[in-house]
Amino acid sequence: MEIDEQAGFVGGTVVSRSSLEEVRKFYNTVGADWGNRYQAPDEKAPDPAVLRLRVVIKLIERYGCDNIFDAGCGDAPVVAELLRRGKTVRGVDFSEVLVNRGKSLLEKQGFDPRLCEVGDVTNLAEPDGAHDTVLCLGVLPHIDRMDRAVGELVRITRPGGILILSFRNDLFDLFTFNRFTVEFFADRLLPAVPFTPEERDRALRGIAGLLAFPDRPGESPDSPHREFYRLTRINHNPLTIAADLEPFGMTHLVNGYYKFHPLPPLLQEQFPNFSEIGARMDETLSFSWLGMFMCSTFIAVFRKNGGCR
Ligand SMILES: C[S@@+](CC[C@H](N)C(=O)[O-])C[C@H]1O[C@@H](n2cnc3c(N)ncnc32)[C@H](O)[C@@H]1O
Repeated sequence: MEIDEQAGFVGGTVVSRSSLEEVRKFYNTVGADWGNRYQAPDEKAPDPAVLRLRVVIKLIERYGCDNIFDAGCGDAPVVAELLRRGKTVRGVDFSEVLVNRGKSLLEKQGFDPRLCEVGDVTNLAEPDGAHDTVLCLGVLPHIDRMDRAVGELVRITRPGGILILSFRNDLFDLFTFNRFTVEFFADRLLPAVPFTPEERDRALRGIAGLLAFPDRPGESPDSPHREFYRLTRINHNPLTIAADLEPFGMTHLVNGYYKFHPLPPLLQEQFPNFSEIGARMDETLSFSWLGMFMCSTFIAVFRKNGGCR
């Protein structure tokens, strides 16, 4: 596995790392059924991807977006949905398997299959400023060179245009009361405290002692998600995302949240209707500060500086 140790994460916290090739292989094999999660959604507890798309549609309406480019479009579920809504849109993805599935989906729905093509988000063929709106959903947290990807997404957005990006939410780790909470203290909070190494260790043991399950979630060897969790995962903080993108010439407009957790995930088993209650929260709280803690992912919207509005 070749990884550039100097990689730029645009202010993110790295949870795990893999090469771009490993990510591509995952989506060409285990993850090649990506778009299935959009089909016949369970209305009471829709898949997080469906919930994300609902927030994206609200944003597209709010900012009057058109001439949309979907970077890392998978097998084109979002492209197809926006085409059905009358938008001008096309997308690229670096998984050839997903792109072929995307072409079939578009053709089946009466659209031009060339609206979904192979392309790498870290090195796009699009001209500068080509698009009024650029989407990148569920992709950036996987990208080892996120700085290159963000640079490319900004480059192809026209001045005054809109960029809609999704990120993993670093703050959610404080809400989980588990191993991730211990890691949040260890990696994000305690480095700012002028402790001696001994005090730091004692503090961490103390934090772990406050939690009933400081080692969960462990890695289950037969978990269907095991391979996914080995891929690059980068968290971002919704409180600092504006500053993270500012050096790229982007002005932050709003954050949107999806996939609400009514309680920390450790309590899920005690509430059989956990996901359904969460989905009801999604209906009204997408733009509430509550999402900063209760959602593991968020969408950040930016306007590219320059141009007329
Ligand atoms: C979680 S899926 C999201 C797909 C789609 N954006 C959606 O919201 O339905 C992540 C996608 O990112 C793609 N991807 C990851 N790294 C990429 C890269 N460097 N260039 C293009 N696509 C990439 C994967 O192939 C996969 O289709």
